[in-house]
Amino acid sequence: MRKKIIAGNWKMNKTVDESAKLATDLVAAVKGQPYAESVDIVVCPTYVALDRVAGIVKGSPVKLGAQDVHFENQGAFTGKVSTDMLKAVGVTYVILGHSEQRTLFGETDENVRKKTAKVLAEGLIPIICVGETLAERDGGITEKVVGIQLRAAYQGLSKDDAAKTVIAYEPVWAIGTGRNATDEQAQAVHKFIRRLLGEIYDAPLAQGIRIQYGGSMKPENAAGLMAQGDVDGGLIGGASLKVDAFLGIIKAA
Ligand code: PGA
Repeated sequence: MRKKIIAGNWKMNKTVDESAKLATDLVAAVKGQPYAESVDIVVCPTYVALDRVAGIVKGSPVKLGAQDVHFENQGAFTGKVSTDMLKAVGVTYVILGHSEQRTLFGETDENVRKKTAKVLAEGLIPIICVGETLAERDGGITEKVVGIQLRAAYQGLSKDDAAKTVIAYEPVWAIGTGRNATDEQAQAVHKFIRRLLGEIYDAPLAQGIRIQYGGSMKPENAAGLMAQGDVDGGLIGGASLKVDAFLGIIKAA
């Protein structure tokens, strides 16, 4: 039985103080709640808020994630942060290959592969994002696109490492649009992803990997999506910025 994982991707939202407030409210809401033990809860604030939020979530069921990382250890890489830096502030999860990174900032499959390997080598857990654009879905190449992204990310990765990964299937057309994939659309791609993992590795490994859905997930659609056999949680943007909405999704999980 795969434990569901609900991760809030705060993107470029909230100052440090605002992030601290959101984290404080979330921790207060989930602390001592039995449901908080049966689902993994993660928040991914901006880099500048990580340290503050780390102090707030410490000792609570809420774990800390970063929105990206660089694959080098240190040096002349202006604007980047390293896995060592993330580990030093208590980060556990790292989102990689988010579609906004891919489409707005030129993230490549090759970079996602390097980052995945680095994150795992440093004992962190990658949340590897894959997903097709609307044009790609309409063109009937969703599986092809997702397959390429997935094979690239796992290229050269050992079975032991692969088993630790989390995948987020995020159709680009559903992100921030209010238009989520239907339960059936999500399940179909999640099933495809699991089958592909089975081909790359083996069926038992594929059965153990958690695949989140992301893209306009809200309390109203979360239960339906997560009732699908291969949907193991959510990567949530907009709805993770409000405690009540995020809590609604956690409860649905
Ligand atoms: P959304 O974002 O929930 O606002 O659609 C999801 C994501 O980009 O991870």
